Amino acid sequence: MAQQFDIIPTGTALGADITDFDIKIMDQEDATRIRVAWLKHLVLRFRGMEFYDDEHVRFTKLLGDPELSPRALCTGEELVKNHPEIGVISNVLGDDGEPIGTLGDGECVWHTDMSYIEIPPAASILHALELPPPNTGGNTEFLNMYVALETMDPILVKRIEGKLLRHENVTLSSGGYRKGMEDKIPTSGDVRHWQGPSHPMIRMHPETNRKCLFLGRRVHAYIEGMDVDESEEILDAVWAHVMQSKFCWEQVWQLGDMILWDNRCAMHRRDAFDPLTRRIMHRTQLKGELIY
Ligand SMILES: [Fe+2]
Repeated sequence: MAQQFDIIPTGTALGADITDFDIKIMDQEDATRIRVAWLKHLVLRFRGMEFYDDEHVRFTKLLGDPELSPRALCTGEELVKNHPEIGVISNVLGDDGEPIGTLGDGECVWHTDMSYIEIPPAASILHALELPPPNTGGNTEFLNMYVALETMDPILVKRIEGKLLRHENVTLSSGGYRKGMEDKIPTSGDVRHWQGPSHPMIRMHPETNRKCLFLGRRVHAYIEGMDVDESEEILDAVWAHVMQSKFCWEQVWQLGDMILWDNRCAMHRRDAFDPLTRRIMHRTQLKGELIY
């Protein structure tokens, strides 16, 4: 039987809380309602979710088509045994002295998850299993890319309409380089020499049919076919517009929080946190669609 959970908007540019929801008895009817809320609010938060990886994967499957974790996709490695769909975001070191996950304790700059592949994921689902003490960092901000586009200067919109943006696939949002990609760093200082796919700067959301900005990351971005100076000037202007708090909502993590976001129309970033503390998140993602 379908649950009677509530959907409470944050009152900001995006995001809503789902309350009185039990993941363990979630059915397809619940998933359909959650999907509708997700498309409307871009980011959904489920508080106090005490559950395990099996339920995390089941939740993901009820919402759509789960994808292997970025690590499993690239190297075949399972960060969580028997769950190749689960990625681990953590600064914790294992018994072998190696990190049990990715992204460390530093800031992750504004980005779209995996915009550096041809078909980036539609959704990311992040569950907080272990957190640093309150007020020691690690908050995650989200940004509504529909509203960012709709409020942008029409002259600037005209300049990026129909343009493709290069999303380089070598560096991480947390700094440093992706595993095995170190030899792909261009030796020239020319931004055009970074490799990666190109995506439309303004994309159509395949489910809502609304247009939104799609920027990936600022660093090493390049608008295809332009002089570098012009590309930089336009990107600076677009990012200056986008980086406004009125387009954002900040998630202050509590243990057991699970966040589901629409990776096609919302960007996110993470604050750095105290490296002497532990933070463990498990993450799944839904397959995306070709961008047009
Ligand atoms: Fe991310």
